[in-house]
Amino acid sequence: MWDYSEKVIEHYRNPRNVGKIDNADAIGVAGSLACGDQLKIYLKIKNNIVVDAKFQTFGCGSAVASSSILTEMIIGKTLDEVRKITNKDIADQLGGLPPEKMHCSVMGHEALEDALKNYDDYMDLDELRAEPVKEKIICQCFGVTENQIWEAIKVNGLKTVEEVTNFTKAGGACGRCKDVIKDIIETYYNKLEKEEHEASTLSPAQKILKISKVIETQIAAELQKDGGDITLVDIDGSKVYVKLRGKCSGCKNAMMTLKGFVENTLRETVDKNIEVIEVE
Ligand code: FES
Repeated sequence: MWDYSEKVIEHYRNPRNVGKIDNADAIGVAGSLACGDQLKIYLKIKNNIVVDAKFQTFGCGSAVASSSILTEMIIGKTLDEVRKITNKDIADQLGGLPPEKMHCSVMGHEALEDALKNYDDYMDLDELRAEPVKEKIICQCFGVTENQIWEAIKVNGLKTVEEVTNFTKAGGACGRCKDVIKDIIETYYNKLEKEEHEASTLSPAQKILKISKVIETQIAAELQKDGGDITLVDIDGSKVYVKLRGKCSGCKNAMMTLKGFVENTLRETVDKNIEVIEVE
């Protein structure tokens, strides 16, 4: 028997926003009935804000709970904010999911991504006419692509083939794809190690340049979208002193602070030991 959080049980018993939006602006689908789970999500979008969301699913209790909480998470958010939601955010909002059921949060995230992509395609006719990029399918049994596996490893810190199966279903039937999944895990961690090594070998001057560049091109650009801003005051070793303005409405996690967003971005892109200090 799985160990479910109270929130999962509550959303399963009283799912929010079940149904269909007749004149939806975007529709996304994930999973397949052949695999046992399918989710369809409908979005109503006005002025770049999701004003309504509904879902229909044929799946287990975790799939219902994940879809239900996802609709609550996205209604009222801007498209930029919605695009930053990960499957981990969905599971976190539910107070966690059993490892074997994490694929339900992934399915929610995939349906949302599909809906946003369809919306973008509709909005951008040139893109619609362009040849679609064919993704490499790694697991033929469940139609799981290389990108989906890579993303699941990255967002959830997966280290074994079994964990990847729990999150994506890949490898959970005939098992022929397990060796390739193992290669993808190895490639991901080798790349991560290489990036960390490169970061640790930066000279102090290179590090300062890189921090300044990330603040200017990534962080400030993100904050300015919401009327905020960042000023770099000083860098002392791994300590970065900044002045911040605005709120973190564009952050991936609704609980994240502005300082947390800046620190995470610098840790991911420059050095995992960076500490951000806010000054007046
Ligand atoms: S190809 Fe992945 S389980 Fe069969």
